[in-house]
Amino acid sequence: MHIDFSNIQTASAVPGAAAMIETFRAIGYSLETAVADIIDNSISAEAKNIYINRVWKGGESIISIRDDGYGMSNEEIIQAMRPGAQNPLEERSLTDLGRFGLGLKTASFSQCRNLTVMSKQEEGAVSYWTWSLDYVAQSDKWELIKWAPDEYINALDDVARGTIVIWSHLDRVIPSATRDEDENAKRKFSEAFDKVKRHLSMTFHRFMENKTIKLFWCGHEIEPWNPFCPNESKVQIRPTEYIGENVTVKGYILPHKNNFSSEVAFKNAEGMYGFSAHQGFYVYRGDRLLLAGDWLGLIRKEESYKLVRIQIDLPNSVDSDWQIDIKKSKAYPPVSCRQQLEAYAKQACGIGLEVYKHRGRILKRRAGQDFQTLWSEKKKDDKWYFVVNREHSMIKSVKMMAQDNPDRAIEVLLKFIEESIPTKTIYAREAKDEDTQKQPYSDIDISIVKSMMEQIYQNQLADGLTPEQARSSLKQMEPFNDYENLIEDLV
Ligand SMILES: Nc1ncnc2c1ncn2[C@@H]1O[C@H](COP(=O)(O)OP(=O)(O)OP(=O)(O)O)[C@@H](O)[C@H]1O
Ligand SMILES: [Mg+2]
Repeated sequence: MHIDFSNIQTASAVPGAAAMIETFRAIGYSLETAVADIIDNSISAEAKNIYINRVWKGGESIISIRDDGYGMSNEEIIQAMRPGAQNPLEERSLTDLGRFGLGLKTASFSQCRNLTVMSKQEEGAVSYWTWSLDYVAQSDKWELIKWAPDEYINALDDVARGTIVIWSHLDRVIPSATRDEDENAKRKFSEAFDKVKRHLSMTFHRFMENKTIKLFWCGHEIEPWNPFCPNESKVQIRPTEYIGENVTVKGYILPHKNNFSSEVAFKNAEGMYGFSAHQGFYVYRGDRLLLAGDWLGLIRKEESYKLVRIQIDLPNSVDSDWQIDIKKSKAYPPVSCRQQLEAYAKQACGIGLEVYKHRGRILKRRAGQDFQTLWSEKKKDDKWYFVVNREHSMIKSVKMMAQDNPDRAIEVLLKFIEESIPTKTIYAREAKDEDTQKQPYSDIDISIVKSMMEQIYQNQLADGLTPEQARSSLKQMEPFNDYENLIEDLV
């Protein structure tokens, strides 16, 4: 539809500052995703070292992120503080991690009420400005204030260049009334900050690995966490595929626990949320990790796929096709590549499933052709089920044992069955939901049920139960409860 704007009546509808700035708080960042968003800006500003720190002072605690990037002049700080500092439609350089011109503000306000930015360009003067939500609430104006927390006023005096982002009045992290001495609150703050460290070691692992940046968390250098375990020789690597212009996928199937080089390596591979949660796609945008284990709605997470991790690499030129969000924590594959992604993932999951079931397979290989399993998987009319392998030597010897000591033979048999129920394989089968499990007793020879029922019935009569009592007892007994009509026929 074409509208002629050249001669049209207009009315001004400027957003109310106090109300609007509060809505910036509702984007839904966590502390760790908010810090990561600030670090994106540092990386885009060519920082080499980034220092994440905290000062505990109860409700007055402070978090700061300092970098040694190219910094900003006084005017540039003001521009950076403007919501919508840059149009999302503008083309960005490939190394720019930004998109919306909002992250600095939305990430900060999601955690605190005072956002101070202090910056200095190479040998220039230090400048600083603060967004104070309380001031905006009071004035209802889009106005910054010239203020910085006392202890940070000289923060950049001794460095050549760089920027420090300071969050104070952290009402979303620590309730404002919290006292310094509140040990419980202090521990919670520490734990939240610990999570920040782990999140950063994952989100920026490529930058740390290729030595682009160093991250320091409370003075300690953060080690990168690479989800694909590059130092493990037993990782199975899938071929790289293109799924659109400049977008690639590459799958990795981690080894089974026993095939990790060490217990420590295995524990480390588990990551922040455990193997099961960490399965799925890892979406990188310009080497920065957006999503760490998510099937993007294409398949379901399953315990049996927990060793499968697939990297997707996106350049920032496809941001709008992939619907990258402000927080840089979501991505939706465009329709055009979904099918290919799904096929790629399913293939990797097929291999992942085999590794997951590993134990039996390894034994099979070691023992050659003669490996005997106590349970065998069968399939009938697209329904799968498991049977006890009657040919197993153990069953034969139980039969022999039964001649001398039937009680012991039955006990031994039951014990072996209990111990060897193939739960992992059943679980894995259940997960591959294309075929369904056969219903229990659905095609059992009815005469077996009948004769067993008859036998129990007669035993119960011999024990002094009336026919009525014996029948009602059978109705309370698995699996006979499903055969009420047969029970009624018993006389
Ligand atoms: N640490 C920094 N060093 C230098 N410039 C910075 C720094 N942080 C922010 N800026 C400037 O402020 C601008 C606004 O940052 P902001 O995070 O709000 O938006 P963005 O990074 O452009 O986009 P996005 O909303 O996707 O993060 C940046 O484009 C950059 O020019
Ligand atoms: Mg940004």
